[in-house]
Amino acid sequence: MAKKDLIIRIGGEGGEGVVSAGDFIAAACARAGLEVYTFKTFPAEIKGGYCMYQVRTSAERVYNQGDTFDVFCAFNGEAYELNKHLLIPGSVFVYDGPGGDFEPEIPEGVTAYPIPMTKTAQALKSKRSKNMVALGALSTLFNISEATLKEVLTDKFKNKGEEILNFNLGAFDEGKKLAEAIEKVDTFRVADPKEPKDVIIISGNDACGMGAILGGLDFFSAYPITPATEIAKFVATHIPKKAGTLLQAEDEIASIAQVMGASYAGKKCMTATSGPGLALMAELLGMSSMSETPLMLVDVQRGGPSTGMPTKHEQSDLFLAIHGSHGDAERIVLSVEDVNDCINMTVEALNLAEEYQCPVILLSDGSLAFSTQTVPAPKPENFTIVNRKKWDGQGEYKRYELTDDNISPMCDPGTPGGQHIATGLEHTEKGAPCWDLHNRDLQMDKRFNKLRPVVNTYKPVEVDGEGEADLGVIAWGSTIGVVREAVDRMRAEGMKVKGFYPKLMWPMPVEQYEAFAKTCKKILVPEVNYLGQLSHFIRAETSISPISYPICQGLPFTPAQVIEKSKEVI
Ligand code: COA
Repeated sequence: MAKKDLIIRIGGEGGEGVVSAGDFIAAACARAGLEVYTFKTFPAEIKGGYCMYQVRTSAERVYNQGDTFDVFCAFNGEAYELNKHLLIPGSVFVYDGPGGDFEPEIPEGVTAYPIPMTKTAQALKSKRSKNMVALGALSTLFNISEATLKEVLTDKFKNKGEEILNFNLGAFDEGKKLAEAIEKVDTFRVADPKEPKDVIIISGNDACGMGAILGGLDFFSAYPITPATEIAKFVATHIPKKAGTLLQAEDEIASIAQVMGASYAGKKCMTATSGPGLALMAELLGMSSMSETPLMLVDVQRGGPSTGMPTKHEQSDLFLAIHGSHGDAERIVLSVEDVNDCINMTVEALNLAEEYQCPVILLSDGSLAFSTQTVPAPKPENFTIVNRKKWDGQGEYKRYELTDDNISPMCDPGTPGGQHIATGLEHTEKGAPCWDLHNRDLQMDKRFNKLRPVVNTYKPVEVDGEGEADLGVIAWGSTIGVVREAVDRMRAEGMKVKGFYPKLMWPMPVEQYEAFAKTCKKILVPEVNYLGQLSHFIRAETSISPISYPICQGLPFTPAQVIEKSKEVI
């Protein structure tokens, strides 16, 4: 059956190699010149608990993980139980049997292929390679290039030793033989290979790390936290080649303090964390605003509050990112839509921090952090690097000098004549503590007014669609990719629907929101949090009264959910 895209979901237990099997399929499809979007969800335990990996692949661009699967491969009974309601006529079910830990009931219209994964791996005396038996079978059943799969499998396992590699290659071949022996029905196939493009396949977290390196980062300090840790891991591997430094701090407060210190010393710096870490950093974010010290921070949002659902997806740090601090502490907040943004907008966030001498928070999220996607291979020469305004050594140096654009030149410590205090206390132009009322007004205005141009200079909001519409859907973060597809599908059904996709979350481009809303009868805002946080800001800052559509069960929206709600609203 020819289908534009194919969605394969693998479910099993954490520790059974679900993630590796999914990664191999994604990498093989990408090497075959296809577009790939993956989604994975797993428990907070290292071993055990339900683990799921979904690969969506197509010859055309894919924007999200899709509504549901076409093919479901179950490694165990728990995965079957959790997904059996999604086995609908036309879908294909590959499962561990006979000899697995469950006996499925196959619904009418579902094509089922039993593959004895556990038994075969046990016979090979390599229980770990159960996932490779499954992979061999999936390769044969759905036209995934065997040669390419073996290539990526070898790349991954060769470091684990020849014995492990050979076991796995053997298990792959056994899985393939088992599938060849099955009487196959003509169901789904991965699209045929295309001319390879100049793309890479990379996760959201690695992409933020790559953006940091491309953006000219000198110093990174962080404390590990799920789902943000891989950003530091990527930077740790690559920053030494650029003579930069990565420090693992003793906690989040120390990490942001180290970043502030290094930034004061003239270095381009950043940290990365998740919600609980961002909460701890709130005090120093205020100090960065007050002392006008450039600071860039990636917040990979996860299910909260508190330790919440550490490995699950949520978009619930918008309140904290925009206003999390005491006093009036202004900052810039951006959010990424996809993995490509993770690269480009990390560079841009570093630039903005330098240009405006303020904290810049880049919001990513749990689904994007672990999602791997095919993106154009970045070319270092295509990135513009912005550095801070520096003192020219002329006249008296005033760190907080009142200037036309409200941005004062910075000066590295040790520069002759440039002695100054950078302080969290309210201060004069020279940096001396000062409680004078007039001075207070001048410095507060300076810190706020310097950020006003950002709404006009940073990334215009993308409007998807023209003319008047019955419904406008406003989305942020990785929900944008879901809404793009939902809007396309609704338009194909003849509905009058438009999309609005802001990446600059704060300061809010109010005029652009209002201009968009004027063209739509109703506004819907789907977002993955309980309170409808963006809806709240839209109500507070603009004249729009949006209809909030919040969900927060640890999973991203599907296009079908957005379509259903849109129809209800219209
Ligand atoms: N032969 C040999 N090794 C294999 C293998 C095979 N056939 N299949 C997988 N492996 C290895 C993988 O290479 C990986 O090792 P690596 O880390 O050295 O690369 C390891 O086994 C785990 O396999 P993988 O496929 O990556 O994961 P999984 O599907 O088994 O799921 C996780 C396990 C990832 C979900 C789980 O370990 C995890 O990390 N949970 C999250 C923990 C967390 O973040 N908690 C939050 C605390 S706040």
